[in-house]
This record gives sequence, structure tokens and C-alpha cells, in this order.
Amino acid sequence: MTVGVSLFGGEMGKREKQKQRQERRNRGRGSFSYLQEDQDIDDTPRISPSGEEAVDDSNEEQEEDDADDDEATINHENQSHDMPSKFLLYQQSVQSPKGDISYLQKFFLMYVGGRIALHLQEDFCGTAFLSTEWLRSDSRRTAVGLDLDDEALNWCMENNIPSLGADGFSRISLFHGNVLQPLQSKLVNTDPQKLVSNISLAQNEENMQAGMPESDDLTGSVVQDDTFTKTYITLPGRDIVCAFNYSCCCLHKRADLVLYFKHARDALSTKGGIFVMDLYGGTSSEDKLRLQRRFHNFTYVWEQAEFDIIQRKTRISLHFHLKKEQRKLRHAFSYSWRLWTLPEIRDCLEEAGFRSVHFWVRDMPDSTEIMKTEGFGAGKNVKYEEATTFQQQDSWNAYIVGVA
Ligand SMILES: C[S@@+](CC[C@H](N)C(=O)[O-])C[C@H]1O[C@@H](n2cnc3c(N)ncnc32)[C@H](O)[C@@H]1O
Repeated sequence: MTVGVSLFGGEMGKREKQKQRQERRNRGRGSFSYLQEDQDIDDTPRISPSGEEAVDDSNEEQEEDDADDDEATINHENQSHDMPSKFLLYQQSVQSPKGDISYLQKFFLMYVGGRIALHLQEDFCGTAFLSTEWLRSDSRRTAVGLDLDDEALNWCMENNIPSLGADGFSRISLFHGNVLQPLQSKLVNTDPQKLVSNISLAQNEENMQAGMPESDDLTGSVVQDDTFTKTYITLPGRDIVCAFNYSCCCLHKRADLVLYFKHARDALSTKGGIFVMDLYGGTSSEDKLRLQRRFHNFTYVWEQAEFDIIQRKTRISLHFHLKKEQRKLRHAFSYSWRLWTLPEIRDCLEEAGFRSVHFWVRDMPDSTEIMKTEGFGAGKNVKYEEATTFQQQDSWNAYIVGVA
């Protein structure tokens, strides 16, 4: 299935395809919050944003102000069938899996080394877009995804995995469940021949309890079917566990964060592995903020509610304004987040048993600069650097690496 073409309807002309390709190259993980470029390792030549991508956003301010009154504004639950899926829009505007994967490989080589990372676990995976890209680039790779949202997981099964070809389903295991209770999670069926399996994501200890042979690099999963008969599927011990797009902010309590980090560590291969997550911050992250980024077919809006300085919590809403359909997908995604600090994350990772913790930070364009800059101009070519100190900025983004 070709993701992204049919949903926007009809045949695409060459020029439109070029635009979409450019948008894909330019979208960034950090664009999730601050609409930054993600050009760190992706060395694809960029087309000048002042060229084809120049957009007229003179009406955008008004469009934003009118959002709540607009008759065409829709709730995502009432999404009609001819509308692009909110998951597709999210993947196109928010995620940048190739950039993330480049950093994952780099971190693995730096902090573990001695072998190539093949086995990934993507926690809080949503539509497991990162896992899909992980599998695409090397046929030896496997991926495990875990998320609470079965709609997103099923969307992945129907829209992302088929693009991998025949062996895609056999190399990915998607689990529906809570990262705090991974053993209770259930396998979303990856075999189109079967309907559903109730398989729980188990870790090394459970394998041993259930009599699985001990292995250096295999992590079994206990399979429990409806008749409670235990069988096994074998998952390799993961080389890398990741939690991206600030997903750890979904966990609000310190004890939960430590518990989650312990589960992540347990899933890593006994031969060594890394846990990688990301975080954003800066003075602008602790205030109300509304940012937008324009794509060829839609505008993506990040809305940040007031910031509670005692609980360090905020609510983030993502909206999509569809040009062709003249519709607004308001609150397509909405998250209640606790904004953890870097030292809090380090302490919790250490408490969970990680041997060392490393910060890779990049300065982000100021929010005012982003609002002034058209297209993809802001923040080009800024790379993440490993840092032990970093002065406060309007906005920053960080990868945090825990080495097991
Ligand atoms: C910010 S989204 C990130 C999605 C995806 N990882 C990405 O990179 O864009 C957070 C995801 O975490 C999931 N989630 C939130 N709390 C969770 C939990 N306790 N266990 C598992 N998934 C959770 C949500 O369903 C959502 O898909």
C-alpha cells in the first residue's frame, strides 16, 4: 500500500511529488514542538525554502483565530472517510525516523560497539513509523513496538507494515499495553492469516521462570492463548530500546518513570544495549505557545497550554488544517505532559540501573524566529552535540542515552 498518496486523492503531478519529497526530507522530530529542521545526519541536498516551498501565510493568523468558530472545524472522532488519516498527517509532519535511526546507530556504535544493532524496541510507538523504517533499511533487523493506543497499532498494521513487503509482518511484533506493565501487554496480530493472539511481552526473568533456555541474546515472549496454554515466541534481546517524541512526559510520577526505565533496561540484550529517549525544554517551553508549520497540503499546529510550575505539567494539542478539504482537524492528538528536566531523567536512569547516561543537545530556533521564518528556513544544519553543560536557551532538544 502506498502510504500518503491515495489519501490525498488522485494522481499526483511531478511537481507535487517533488514538493512532497522535499517536505519529507525537511520534516523533523523536533518540528513536533518547535518546527525545527532535522537535517543532522540526513545528507540529502535541500532545496531552498525560498524556492518552491515558499508559502503565503498572510491569512494564517486569521485562520488560527477563527479555528473555534469555523463551521468546517471537525472533531477527529467525526472524521469522514475522504479525509486523510490523522496518523498519516502526524507521520508526515511530526516524525523524522531516518534522522532518529542515524543517531540510534551512532549511539550504539559509540557506547556499545562490537556488533551492529539489529533489534529495536520502540516504546510508546504509536503507529510504529520508526520501527517500520528500521526494518526497511536492513532485512536482518527486527522490531518490537508497544503502545496503549490500539487504533494507532492497527493503523500501522494496515498502512505501514504492508509497505515492507512479504517479510515485514514476520519481523515486527506490536504489543498493545502499558509500558509500566509490559508483561500484561497483548500481541497485536502480525500474521494476516490469524485474527488475534493474546501474547504477552515477557522479559528475561519470565523466560527463565517458564523454563525457557537461558540465552545471551534471545528474549522469549510468553504466549498465552485463550485457553491459557503457554507457548513461546522468541524475541531477540533488544540492542536498542527507544521512547521518542517526548513520550516519557506521558509518565507523571517519578516512581513510574523509574519503573519504566527498569522495564526498558530489562528488555535490552545481555550483551549490552542502549535506551534512548528525547526531551525538549527551554524558556519558551514553560509558557503558553502556539506554533505552526506549513506543508504542501496542510498546516500543522502545535498548541501548548499554560505551564504549571509546581507540577511541571502542560497540555499539548496538535491540530491539522487541511487546505484542499478546507477542513480543520482540531485536537487530533492531545497529551497531558509532565516536563521532566535533564537531571531528573539522569537520576531516574541511574536508579533504574543504567551504567552511564549521556546527553546530546541542540539549540533550537527561537519561537519568535520560527514564526517569522517562512517554510523550512529556521534552525537549519544545527546538529546534536554531546554535552555535560549547556546554557539555557529559548528552546532546546535533547537525546538522552542510557547505557546498560
Ligand atoms: C507523543 S506520542 C509518540 C508517538 C510516537 N512514539 C512518535 O514518535 O511520534 C505518545 C504515545 O505514547 C502512548 N502512550 C502514552 N502513555 C503510554 C503508556 N503508559 N504505555 C504505552 N503507551 C503509552 C500514546 O498512546 C501515544 O501513542
